[in-house]
Amino acid sequence: MARDPDFFKGKTAVITGAGSGIGRAAAIIFAREGARVLCGDIDHAGGAETVRQVRAAGGEALFVPVDVTRRDEVRALIRFGIDTWGRVDFLFNSAGSALKRCGFLEIDDALWDRSYDLNVKGTFFAMQEVLPHMLERGSGTIINVASMAHKRGGPGGSVHYASAKGAVVTLTMGVAREFADRGIRCLSVSPASVATQFQAASGTSREMEDRIIAGIPMKRMAEADEIGELVVFLCSDACPFMTADTVYVSGGGGFR
Ligand SMILES: NC(=O)c1ccc[n+]([C@@H]2O[C@H](COP(=O)([O-])OP(=O)(O)OC[C@H]3O[C@@H](n4cnc5c(N)ncnc54)[C@H](O)[C@@H]3O)[C@@H](O)[C@H]2O)c1
Repeated sequence: MARDPDFFKGKTAVITGAGSGIGRAAAIIFAREGARVLCGDIDHAGGAETVRQVRAAGGEALFVPVDVTRRDEVRALIRFGIDTWGRVDFLFNSAGSALKRCGFLEIDDALWDRSYDLNVKGTFFAMQEVLPHMLERGSGTIINVASMAHKRGGPGGSVHYASAKGAVVTLTMGVAREFADRGIRCLSVSPASVATQFQAASGTSREMEDRIIAGIPMKRMAEADEIGELVVFLCSDACPFMTADTVYVSGGGGFR
């Protein structure tokens, strides 16, 4: 995974959306590699459960409640990491959702705003809050979750979500390139469908799930830890020349 087996030891990862799915999987993997993990989520029970799982495996983790659509709460999350452990080395923005599936003409203003607040603004806030600290230290890696949906536009069910994730890809690229010569790397990951509570929360029906899986050559969704492993790898010293890009994890497909 990392060139230096101790690369993650003594370092801190802040994860939003750590109370479930990909964020929880990444928390467990960061901790397995020796990093301290600060778990942020709007779901207190989920965040506490992630901390329990990290500790049960011998790792170090704390939970801070956060609504990523609130700048003051995101600021407090990052501040807590810096004050508690003296440094934040990695930021993984996993909080996000498609919220609801509907045709383009049925997207109302509230759904549009919530999609962009959660998926784009939350990511923007967290990056803006952590970057001054990372720049001061001259190093830091930020990974944002986009989605393969940004490639196909989400016709018929999730244009609001797919376009927001497109914004995440572009936002990531811009930040990466602006700070590339100051020790900062910033990447996004674009998974196809992942088997998490995201599916039920976004209103993915059983039939839709079957259609999605039929369109994936590996004939299954990704598991959350398959994305988590990639996130931790991208933060490691194994890929110091990677920045700005989005990395697809698709099982060979993902275009349902
Ligand atoms: N599951 C998929 O098929 C899939 C595919 C591509 C991209 N993604 C993206 O991956 C990321 C993680 O999704 P997941 O599959 O792990 O879903 P998940 O629902 O299991 O996890 C998302 C987490 O975000 C938290 N969250 C929601 N709103 C929040 C807010 N306002 N503030 C803080 N936390 C909040 C939830 O409580 C939850 O713990 C999301 O950004 C999602 O859009 C998911």
